[in-house]
Amino acid sequence: MKRILITGALGQIGSELTLSLRETYGKDKVIATDIRKPDHEVATEGPFEILDVMDQKRMSQLVSTHRVDTIIHLAALLSAKAELNPLFAWNLNMSGLLNVLETAKEFKTKFFAPSSIGAFGPTTPKNATPQNTIQRPTTMYGINKLTGELLADYYFRRYGVDCRGLRFPGLISYKTQPGGGTTDYAVEMYHEAVKHRRYTSYIKKGTYLDMMYMPDALAAIIQLMEADGTQLKNRNAYNVTAMSLDPEKLAQSIRREIPEFRLDYKIDSVRQQIADSWPNQLDASCAKEEWGFKPTFTLDRMTKEMIKNIM
Ligand SMILES: NC(=O)c1ccc[n+]([C@@H]2O[C@H](COP(=O)([O-])OP(=O)(O)OC[C@H]3O[C@@H](n4cnc5c(N)ncnc54)[C@H](O)[C@@H]3O)[C@@H](O)[C@H]2O)c1
Repeated sequence: MKRILITGALGQIGSELTLSLRETYGKDKVIATDIRKPDHEVATEGPFEILDVMDQKRMSQLVSTHRVDTIIHLAALLSAKAELNPLFAWNLNMSGLLNVLETAKEFKTKFFAPSSIGAFGPTTPKNATPQNTIQRPTTMYGINKLTGELLADYYFRRYGVDCRGLRFPGLISYKTQPGGGTTDYAVEMYHEAVKHRRYTSYIKKGTYLDMMYMPDALAAIIQLMEADGTQLKNRNAYNVTAMSLDPEKLAQSIRREIPEFRLDYKIDSVRQQIADSWPNQLDASCAKEEWGFKPTFTLDRMTKEMIKNIM
């Protein structure tokens, strides 16, 4: 990766990934783009361009002008928001992705897009979910993500586009608010624990989902993109995870730092149904074997960092 363009760069992942890539590859080598331009260091302290991913002409112009060799595609509508507006989600998630794939084909760039644990469904084995298994997602987001995995495989096989991807679990970070996913409760719980010493979870006790701390997710993206392509058998969409959590387990970890923390429940049926259709815990062994995936943050280490930084 020498000159990287990121779509949706002001979101939860992009705002941290942009800064991390600029540190590694040089400030001028990472072109952040998004549909909006707030006063954020991603937009003010390095190249930034307004780009709506629905506008393929402008995308091509930017890739050509900046001599981009890698596109990291993050602009998307996430699970909970997609379920509220499924048709809009299909249009944005699929047309945006196809525009990026076509641009990557035209300019022979590398391509990265995250898939998600949402690409699995209720008939997928819930525990130690294998890399290659039943995928019959029941949410619009999941259908978009699975289609994205297949399209990226197709562009690799048919056109030789160097497409790579990860199936991310819920990502936990303190810098940017999450953008409307089902696992957002974990981030909210940390913020509320610090501010009010209590949190009301919209996800039921006993609902286990995979999670990972943002620095591990950023490292995984860079490691996969730098890996020797000949070693990659499952290019589009490696299972990755660092821990499997339910609200109680997260609360217990928080209580080790804030003993008076109290957890209540008020279940949101839309997000609970989404969570119920996803695996409890992925098997990430293909990512470990094929390109050395190795998350470093345990639950308690992440909790200490989250609380310290939110305070
Ligand atoms: N955050 C997670 O926990 C998680 C987990 C699994 C997968 N993912 C995937 O990672 C990617 C990024 O997720 P995120 O959490 O950073 O999302 P986010 O919602 O925080 O950010 C998305 C960004 O896309 C931008 N955007 C929206 N419409 C756009 C358009 N038409 N053109 C250009 N930009 C547009 C938004 O302004 C926003 O800055 C998504 O594909 C998501 O599905 C995220």
